[in-house]
Amino acid sequence: MNLEQIIKSRVSNTNFNTQDVDSELIINLLDTAVYAPNHKMREPWRFIIFKNTGKDSFADKYLNSLNVEQKEKYEASVLKIFKAPMLLAFVMPTNQNMRDELEDMEAVATVIQNFLLLATEAGLATAWKTPMFSETDQFKEQLNLELGEIVIGLVMVGYSDMARDPKSRKKAVTLTTIYK
Ligand SMILES: Cc1cc2nc3c(=O)[nH]c(=O)nc-3n(C[C@H](O)[C@H](O)[C@H](O)COP(=O)(O)O)c2cc1C
Repeated sequence: MNLEQIIKSRVSNTNFNTQDVDSELIINLLDTAVYAPNHKMREPWRFIIFKNTGKDSFADKYLNSLNVEQKEKYEASVLKIFKAPMLLAFVMPTNQNMRDELEDMEAVATVIQNFLLLATEAGLATAWKTPMFSETDQFKEQLNLELGEIVIGLVMVGYSDMARDPKSRKKAVTLTTIYK
């Protein structure tokens, strides 16, 4: 596939089969994904991989740490997201300077998109999620996040036997102003 085909065939797909995802493959993809623009080379990211029993026991422990009200609010979403064969958390340090922080978020988003495209090329199915539970103190505590670190996104990863068609987009010509 050329770049255009990869971009256009990347879709959110959570219809995973049971095939295992190799952590080494994912780390290799991340090593390429980080060739993303980032201001002043702050490289404001790190990654957490969940799979197998580590993933399941993390989800169990997290759910058990919630109070009744939180459990009611978040349980379905936690179970849905942690059902992926692999889950990847993209973690970023917050920045004292709001402008720098916005730039850092933009940079992490480009790493995530790079990762999604590389995963698509590698035949993986992915879905980018920003669930509310990832903002809870218990989730951050259990992830052992450093003070000031936040989860920018969770990416569900696996293999799928069910291809999905991309959703259509508005044409750029209808969205573009040209000064000439
Ligand atoms: C920053 C960001 C956050 C997202 N969060 C969620 C989410 O929490 N739940 C979800 O189902 N999809 C989430 N998505 C995926 C979008 O819904 C999806 O990309 C969009 O519908 C386009 O579909 P496609 O990915 O198949 O092209 C998120 C996407 C982005 C870029």
